[in-house]
Amino acid sequence: MTSLVCSTCHHSFSDDLPRWQCTCGGLLDMVFQPDVTINQISSANLSMWRYRAVIPLRHDKNIVSFNEGKTPLLDIDIDGLPVKVKLDHLCPSGSFKDRGASVLVSKVKELGIQHVVEDSSGNAGAAIATYCAAAHIGCDIYVPASTSAGKLTQIEAMGARVVKIPGSRDDTARAVLQQAQHIYYASHVWNPYFLHGIKTIAYEICEQLDWSAPDFFFTPVGNGSLLLGAFIGFGELLNAGMIAKMPRLCAVQSAHCAPCAEAFFLNQKTIVPIDPQPTLAEGIAVAEPIRGAQIINAVRQSNGDFITVLDNEVKLWLDKFYKKGLYIEPTSAVVFAGLSKYKRKLGKNDTVVTIITGHGLKTNKKV
Ligand SMILES: Cc1ncc(COP(=O)(O)O)c(C=O)c1O
Ligand SMILES: [Zn+2]
Repeated sequence: MTSLVCSTCHHSFSDDLPRWQCTCGGLLDMVFQPDVTINQISSANLSMWRYRAVIPLRHDKNIVSFNEGKTPLLDIDIDGLPVKVKLDHLCPSGSFKDRGASVLVSKVKELGIQHVVEDSSGNAGAAIATYCAAAHIGCDIYVPASTSAGKLTQIEAMGARVVKIPGSRDDTARAVLQQAQHIYYASHVWNPYFLHGIKTIAYEICEQLDWSAPDFFFTPVGNGSLLLGAFIGFGELLNAGMIAKMPRLCAVQSAHCAPCAEAFFLNQKTIVPIDPQPTLAEGIAVAEPIRGAQIINAVRQSNGDFITVLDNEVKLWLDKFYKKGLYIEPTSAVVFAGLSKYKRKLGKNDTVVTIITGHGLKTNKKV
C-alpha cells in the first residue's frame, strides 16, 4: 500500500489522487516500505527500472523511460584518495535528475494529467521537459532568468514553455507556486515521486559494490533531492537486510549559499536565514530549501557531515576534471572540491562514493 502523508498534520492521501501538497500546505512524504530481495531485481533490465519492485507506480504500461540509470561506477583519484564515482551526467538529458523525472512523469501519466508546471535551475526542468515530451504531456518550466543558455535551449527544444523569472532561484520557486494552485506541480522538490526515482542510485551503488554499502556517500546539496533520494534508497536496502549499514551522507554546499550547512554547524534542526551570494554552482544556489529540515536530519541520522566550498575551489576542481577528460558542469565540481578538503578525515580503507551530477555541455561557456 502506497500513500502520501503530510509531514505537518499527518493527514494521509491515496496515491490515486493528484496531490503534491497537503491541504494544510505541508510537504508530503511517501509511505511505502518495499521488502525487496535480490530475486526481485530484474537483472535482464539494464536500466534503473531493474528495481521496478521498489518503484511506487501501479501499472507497467505507464512507465516513461529511456532506459536511464545503470550508470558506470568509475574509479577516480582525488588528490591521492581513491573514490568511486557514478557517471550520472551520462543520463539521457545529461543529469541525474532523469531518475526522478522518469518515475514522476510515469506517475503523472498514470494519473491522466495532460499538463504540468515545474521550476528549476535548469537540469530538473530539462529532465521533466524530456520525459514529458516522450509522454506527450505539456509542461511549463519556470527558471531564473540567469540560467545557462545550454539548459534553456535544451528545455525549449523539448517543446516546453520556458518562463524566465528575474531574480534568484528562490524567486522562481515562489512564482511557480502560484501556477501550481491550478496546474499539477511536477516538482523535484515538493513531489515525493521524484525522490523515489532518485533513490535508485542507492540501489545501483550497492549492487555495483556486490551488495554492500559504501562507508561514505558525498553529494552536492541545493534542494536536496539527491541526498534525500539516496537516504530513502539506502534506508530501504537496510530495512530489507540487503546491506548492513547506512552510509555516512556528506553534503557539500557552496560557501556562498549554504543554509543547511550553517544550520548544521549551529546545531539547529531547521535552516537559518542566510544572505546568499552569487556562485558558479548555479545548480545548488538555493537559499530556502523546502526540505531543509529533512536534509539536516538525514545527514545527522547517517552520522554524516557538511562541507562548504568557495568558488575558486570549485573552479580549480572543474579544471582538474577537464584535464582528466571528464567534461562536467561547474556545480558537479563542488563535491570534488569538498572531498579534497575532507580527505584527511577519511580512513585509508573507507569506501568513498560520489557522483558526477551534470554534463559540461549544459553550461556552454568556459568559467
Ligand atoms: C548539476 C547539479 N548538481 C547537483 C544539483 C543538486 O541537486 P538538489 O537541488 O536536488 O540538491 C543540481 C540541482 O539542480 C544540479 O543541477
Ligand atoms: Zn497537512
